[in-house]
Amino acid sequence: MKALLLATVAALVVLPSGAPAPDAGAPAALNGTWLFDGAPDYPGLRAVQIAQYGGAAIGEVFTDWYGMIPMRSLEISGDTATFQMETPSPHDAPTTWTIHRDGDAIRVTGKIWYQHVDAEGRPGSAAAVARFLLPPNPLPKLHKLPDNGLARTPPMGWSSWNHFADKIDDATIRQIADAMVASGLRDAGYRYINIDDGWQGERDAAGVLHPNAHFPDMKALADYVHARGLKLGIYSSPGPKTCAGYTGSYGHAARDAKTFAAWGIDYLKYDLCSGEGIFRTAGEVKAAYQQMGAALQATGRGIVFSLCQYGRDAVGTWGRDVGGNLWRTSSDIEDTYASMAKIGFATGGEAADAGPGGWNDLDMLEIGNGGMSLDEYRTHLTLWAMQAAPLILGNDLRHMSTETRDLLTNRAVIAIDQDPLGAAGQRLRVAGPIEVWSRSLADGGRALAYFNRSDKRVAAGGTIAADLGTSSAREAWTGRPLAAGSEVSIPAHGVILLRIGAPHSQKPAARPA
Ligand code: GLA
Repeated sequence: MKALLLATVAALVVLPSGAPAPDAGAPAALNGTWLFDGAPDYPGLRAVQIAQYGGAAIGEVFTDWYGMIPMRSLEISGDTATFQMETPSPHDAPTTWTIHRDGDAIRVTGKIWYQHVDAEGRPGSAAAVARFLLPPNPLPKLHKLPDNGLARTPPMGWSSWNHFADKIDDATIRQIADAMVASGLRDAGYRYINIDDGWQGERDAAGVLHPNAHFPDMKALADYVHARGLKLGIYSSPGPKTCAGYTGSYGHAARDAKTFAAWGIDYLKYDLCSGEGIFRTAGEVKAAYQQMGAALQATGRGIVFSLCQYGRDAVGTWGRDVGGNLWRTSSDIEDTYASMAKIGFATGGEAADAGPGGWNDLDMLEIGNGGMSLDEYRTHLTLWAMQAAPLILGNDLRHMSTETRDLLTNRAVIAIDQDPLGAAGQRLRVAGPIEVWSRSLADGGRALAYFNRSDKRVAAGGTIAADLGTSSAREAWTGRPLAAGSEVSIPAHGVILLRIGAPHSQKPAARPA
């Protein structure tokens, strides 16, 4: 199909150029090339080309986000045309667009994903569309990449997105790095300072991507972060545009990997974004990730590779093969109990996929951002720890309450997340409003989490006794021992997290196959 499209473009760009004759209503009223100034940035509508040959008509739409999109089922009647536009997500049905000739201009209206487009196009030369064509991007054949030896336990760090979105700059990142150290978070294990979407500027004539004016010197920033015993992460997309509309790595994966390595980058989050409109099969998505995975490995620098394609296409079964160290299992988290619980209880990926070197990424944490109660945030961290998920903080570390800091630095909970066996936990049973989750640990013991999913405090002594028998365990959040038969209750949306089993009394657990 690609070959056919390219042949079509070749045919179109040699169409006679210039404005079609202003003969509204004539059969060829829409023929030619039309250029759009001031159309919304999403999807960045740049040009439309239509050609009619006898009874047949073909046409294409050129966009910043998805490159060239063919008009499907194009029907022209006088000065009006309708066509079907493929939506960016291959999971959604096409939408109907219309084009209407109005004097010297055409008006294009339609919907792409959530954006309504209503733009006016003026006649242009056929050759003008060349600058809207995406660069060539031959995808590699699929094969298994070697393990990069990184992320033996789930990565821990911080990312700018959940709190700052794209309102970020060099000074803020430096202050966050300082706060990471001063708060004790670094010493509790949080090491990566990840710049998410919003750092990118433009490519130069040689194709090299530069940061925008908010990041004057990425290498100097990496040096600053490294000098504090921390590591620096960055963000890009396999598509031409990132989700917030910044420049992506499409057609430039190898060059961008080299640029990141030269800056001293230690972690890359690679977010599908506009790539979903271009890589339309699971195989193509996989190849696009493998392309960057291989490019990162070719730099010779150890760079953790974080896949973000929202958990589609059973990514947990192939994330490692494309060089990934972690892969998102869901769409974006929000700072609400409902959003966090949906991911944590239901869409955290398959436990069997997780293990040293490759982890289910339940998304960045919202703890400290204010939308949940302290008990709900404890549940948040516990769910992530029980599932061996990366712990990437998402709050403003410069302004953190003591409660938030204490919660995030709880050594017993972090130790469960970072357990070297790397066996992700799973739901054991549901007992009324209580969900019991269990995780095997390297010392032969287990972590058991009792989550109260209701909005009322519930008694839990009975269900805990069913697991503990006559032995006692330590509650990870409070550090207190909990004897069998104790009368305990769990607050609304809260959790009790037990660590049981002594290293000397039990054989080390075998890693699940
Ligand atoms: C997507 C990702 C988020 C974040 C934003 C940035 O929505 O899933 O985690 O990186 O893009 O634009």
